[in-house]
Amino acid sequence: MRKPFIAGNWKMYKTVADAVSYVDQLTGLVADVTDVDVIAAPTFTALYAVAQAARGTRIQVSAQDLYWEREGAFTGEISGAMVREAGAAFVIIGHSERRTLFGETDVHVNRKAAAAFTAGLTPIVCIGETLAQREAGDTFEVLDGQIRTGLDGFTGDQVGQLVIAYEPVWAIGTGRNATPGQAAEAHGHIRTRVRQWFGGEPAERCRVIYGGSVKPDNARELITQPDVDGALVGGASLDPKAFAEIVARSRGRV
Ligand code: PGA
Repeated sequence: MRKPFIAGNWKMYKTVADAVSYVDQLTGLVADVTDVDVIAAPTFTALYAVAQAARGTRIQVSAQDLYWEREGAFTGEISGAMVREAGAAFVIIGHSERRTLFGETDVHVNRKAAAAFTAGLTPIVCIGETLAQREAGDTFEVLDGQIRTGLDGFTGDQVGQLVIAYEPVWAIGTGRNATPGQAAEAHGHIRTRVRQWFGGEPAERCRVIYGGSVKPDNARELITQPDVDGALVGGASLDPKAFAEIVARSRGRV
């Protein structure tokens, strides 16, 4: 049985002080949660402070991105080793905002995910179709391309460790979540492809989480769908009480 995985993507919100105070609040709210992986993904500037504040708690830490080179003349970039040293165990890769606002492609995603593994980080690889692609009936084709290129060259063992976040672009920050049926269909498709391309064992192990307007009041119906192993939460993760509520609603599955 896969352990539910609930991650809060804070995007470009929270100062260092806000981030640390959030962790202090969330720590108490999830103190007895041993059956769910609870992850916070702060900005780079807050990463180290959040990792320090989260030591000895149930909260694990993720970066929101990395650059694939180990070090060098890459002004503004941060390597996987640096993210790891700051205390993160996970890294979000290929979020749709990185793809649409910063020109990231599936090839970039592939390099970044490989760099994450090299640095000892677990990648949370984001995939998902736009509204136009869904309306044109291209959803599965788009997901296939993102999986094929994004995970190209990885071993079954690596894919088994992965977290894949299915985030339909039209559902991110819009208040319009996928229906439980739409989520179940897409997640089932993703797991089938992982099984076909990487094998049965990786497909059973890898966690496929849903993202896009997850809130306390829709979390349970989404997370209990077959093949949905948790959630990547944006807006609703900014409030520790709302985030802890989403964690609470994902419990009881392991
Ligand atoms: P949202 O964001 O929950 O605010 O829709 C999800 C995400 O961007 O990961």
